Amino acid sequence: MGFIRCIVRKLKETGINQNMQKVSKGAEIELFVEKLAFGGKAVARLDGFVVFLDRAVPGQTVRARIGKKKKNYAEGRVVEILSQSDHYTPPECPHFGTCGGCHWQDISYDHQLYWKRNHVIECLSHIAGVSEADVQPIVASPEQFRYRNKMEFTFSAKRWLLADELECSFDREELFALGLHVRGFFDKVFNIGECLLESPAAAGILKKARELAKKSGLPAYSIRNHDGFWRFLVVRETKRTGQMLVHLITSAESNAEKAVDSFSSRLIADFPEITTFIHSVSDSKSQVAAGNSSRVLFGPRYIEEKLGDRTYRISANSFFQTNSLAAELLYDTVREFADFKGTEDVWDLYCGTGSIGIYVASLVKKVTGIEIVPDAISDAYENCRLNNVRNCSFMAGDLKEMIKIAAQAGRPDVIIADPPRAGMHPKVLKTLLEVAPKRIIAVSCNPASLARDAALLLDSYEIKAIRPFDLFPQTPHVECVMRLDKRMTDIG
Ligand SMILES: C[S@@+](CC[C@H](N)C(=O)[O-])C[C@H]1O[C@@H](n2cnc3c(N)ncnc32)[C@H](O)[C@@H]1O
Repeated sequence: MGFIRCIVRKLKETGINQNMQKVSKGAEIELFVEKLAFGGKAVARLDGFVVFLDRAVPGQTVRARIGKKKKNYAEGRVVEILSQSDHYTPPECPHFGTCGGCHWQDISYDHQLYWKRNHVIECLSHIAGVSEADVQPIVASPEQFRYRNKMEFTFSAKRWLLADELECSFDREELFALGLHVRGFFDKVFNIGECLLESPAAAGILKKARELAKKSGLPAYSIRNHDGFWRFLVVRETKRTGQMLVHLITSAESNAEKAVDSFSSRLIADFPEITTFIHSVSDSKSQVAAGNSSRVLFGPRYIEEKLGDRTYRISANSFFQTNSLAAELLYDTVREFADFKGTEDVWDLYCGTGSIGIYVASLVKKVTGIEIVPDAISDAYENCRLNNVRNCSFMAGDLKEMIKIAAQAGRPDVIIADPPRAGMHPKVLKTLLEVAPKRIIAVSCNPASLARDAALLLDSYEIKAIRPFDLFPQTPHVECVMRLDKRMTDIG
């Protein structure tokens, strides 16, 4: 099956009792790390009893402290590495371990890719009966660091203190934070110096923004008390056109307009890379970096990225693949798998800003895109205009209703579906089977939901190709493109 063979350490020889009582909360035990589980945790066993480790590299022997013990497994934390793995690589980021992102950064890139493909095989074989040979080699990301075109930072009035700061006392201003979430804590933010997934310019903007917001005297928003002003800073940048969009999200404050204007003009003066600055106000209690109302303080409201020979307009709230260079390889595969002849009527489901549909538009008769975010649909039309594409139309709304409306107008030859992590809604899958396109190209960021959706199609469709992609190096995430063709007996 291609999994690393399970090697259970001879615990007797190392003086550790094999008795399962040893795996109890608080116990420290020696473990050999065998593999990485889907989702990213490392797996070790003590006489067959599974212990999930939050951060460890296959091939390491570690001393781990058991945190939680359930009937069939336990969870532990590595306290010491007793022998190193060939797959270990020193993490480049000083925030590794504290930060909630990139927790595979100490695993060599080749080995990350090995496990990502394995997770696709694992999900698809268990749920959809696919064999290992059906899963093609994984496509690596062109960049392993600095690949992200979007970073979302959170303001906090009470920054997370690092171990060597715990004994110190700080005044209010020194506790002001703008950074990323601490691993495992949605409500804790630490001040990040530089994130190695973003460009150096974005890191500079972050530092300056923190400084300016702190100096304003206005407080950071507290998610416990739901008061305070500064909430989020989102930095979006393009890889091919060198444009940057800064999106500041604050709460409503009657006298704060001047502070925001000064914040934006100082930031723009220091960073000529910024081509658009947007301020949004949010009164939502949930931690979502979007606003109820927005005003453009500088620039044209959007940035434009190029993928292949297409140009895409990205506005503050619209979805765009975060790794532009790898997304281009993904879209090329959609085009390759679809194998268009020029006569096809295509549906681009969960189309976002219409990126995939527009990418393939010149190869087909027409494209109908469906997407729930109305702003993304406006961007999609703008993207058509920008690219001189005239055979695409878009519908805004929830797919589980919109797909029925689309089906009343006609049947597609090919469906491209790129749903969010949860996969396709059962009502979408039902209509998809009713309209019975000759080919479905499923794009997915979650092999488990892809497997579940594919399994429901297998009576009528045959899986012809599966190609995994790494769009998120240093993290456990894996993307897939799957081609499903209608079974011959079903065509009629
Ligand atoms: C993974 S993104 C794909 C976007 C696009 N295909 C691309 O490559 O840029 C998923 C998209 O599905 C949209 N979406 C989520 N739930 C939806 C629903 N119930 N109906 C329609 N669209 C939905 C999201 O807004 C998002 O744009």
